Amino acid sequence: MDQTSSENDEAAGAGARPNPDIEGAEREVGVGPWEGPWPEDDRFDPEFLRHGDRRNVIDPYRYWSHEAIVADLDAKRHGFHVAIENWQHDFNIGTVVRTANAFLAQEVHIIGKKRWNRRGAMVTDKYQHIRHHATVDEFLAWANTAGVVVLGIDLFPDSVPLETYPLPERCVLVFGQEGPGLSDPIRRAAHATLSIAQFGSTRSINAGVAAGIAMHSWVRQHAAPR
Ligand SMILES: C[S@@+](CC[C@H](N)C(=O)[O-])C[C@H]1O[C@@H](n2cnc3c(N)ncnc32)[C@H](O)[C@@H]1O
Repeated sequence: MDQTSSENDEAAGAGARPNPDIEGAEREVGVGPWEGPWPEDDRFDPEFLRHGDRRNVIDPYRYWSHEAIVADLDAKRHGFHVAIENWQHDFNIGTVVRTANAFLAQEVHIIGKKRWNRRGAMVTDKYQHIRHHATVDEFLAWANTAGVVVLGIDLFPDSVPLETYPLPERCVLVFGQEGPGLSDPIRRAAHATLSIAQFGSTRSINAGVAAGIAMHSWVRQHAAPR
């Protein structure tokens, strides 16, 4: 797991500034120092109990140590992975990581360049397993060994509609980058390529948005709240 972002970044919303034009925007996020009898639970972090917890985490994880939160997430992770090609420093990766965290993906895979812009991730990358593959072959070898079905997500003439496709429980949803889209080697290796229906004039939607829609399709089929 990549741990390069600091707790301070997280508390500050990764550089976000409160907007005084939005009602309540200056309200502090999170909780202050613990009040009442000191809790026994060893998932709690004494520093957060003493000083408060302003991290970008859901309320049930308040005051938990970082390790305890990741261990809890790891015990519940879903069967899908996401992958995105990064040959020219794709600016959508932060969004993909944040959404993968929200929908509890097993892992995010970055294919190509290792560096990516963390700003859009809002420090969610600290809680998300991220694996780098320098080449498509390396990525495909991992998918084969892991027994995960590779599904390309792009608007090709032979793509099938994501809206009606039964997504396998264990799969990796692969996204291309702005401009070139999904690369030929991924397209050839994919079990299927899936398209998201569009109705307007644009040729495509943003890759981060496409990733959110595809992950939510998996959630609707396998993990939707009953
Ligand atoms: C902006 S698109 C790439 C440009 C696109 N090849 C074109 O001709 O305009 C970047 C990535 O977003 C995803 N994407 C965008 N729109 C999509 C759609 N309608 N269906 C499926 N994937 C889409 C795909 O993964 C694609 O590789």
